[in-house]
Order: sequence, then structure tokens, then C-alpha cells
Amino acid sequence: MGVINVIDQQGKLHVLEAVEGWRVMEIIREHGLPIKAECGGACACATCQVEVAPEWTARLHEMRDDEEDMLDSLPIVTDYSRLSCQIIYEEELDGLELRLTDASLPDTMPSGASSNIKAEATA
Ligand code: FES
Repeated sequence: MGVINVIDQQGKLHVLEAVEGWRVMEIIREHGLPIKAECGGACACATCQVEVAPEWTARLHEMRDDEEDMLDSLPIVTDYSRLSCQIIYEEELDGLELRLTDASLPDTMPSGASSNIKAEATA
């Protein structure tokens, strides 16, 4: 176990408990934060797009071609853009910092999290 630090689209920081082997997208979604993730992690929609903190980008595994192709198809990306479904949480990523983007906002906000892992929100 460890944590990831997620800043939502309103600028609020959430410290989320993370489970090894889970996709970062799944961790975010499980805690009920707004992330569309339309294709469920198949690298086919880019609605799980996040901005990774610059100091963390080099610590992530390199993008596979399909992730890079998907990001290349988007109108707005930065050097720090990644698809959160393509980042598998592991112990080395304890403390990972990232920001949710407006591109990942669901059409409707989640009605409530069915979370079985603990979320802690800080201002
Ligand atoms: S959930 Fe669709 S690309 Fe990540």
C-alpha cells in the first residue's frame, strides 16, 4: 500500500490509498473522483488523461506506442500528459502526484463511490 496525490479539476488535493497492481485510473475511480475512463482501461478513449507532476514523469515507465498514439490524437496535451489507465501502481510510485484534466470529466458526476479503500481529502 501507498498513496497517490491527486489534484481534481477544482484544484483540491486528494490523498488516495493505492493498491499495488491497480491501474492509477482504477484507483482514482474507486475513490469516486471525477474521471470518465470511458473504455475501461483499453487505451482506446483518452478520457483518463492526467497531468503528471514534472518531477514524477521520469520515474514512470515509458509510454507504449498505443498510449503515445492516443495522446497524439488529442487537441491539448503537454509534456506531462499520460493516460492514467496505462500507469500500473507499484511501490516505487508511492507519493505519485498528478492532476485530473477537464478532458477526463465525466458527462455526469459520480453519484457516490463504492469505495473499499480509504480516501482522505485535504484542502
Ligand atoms: S480509460 Fe480509455 S484510454 Fe484510459
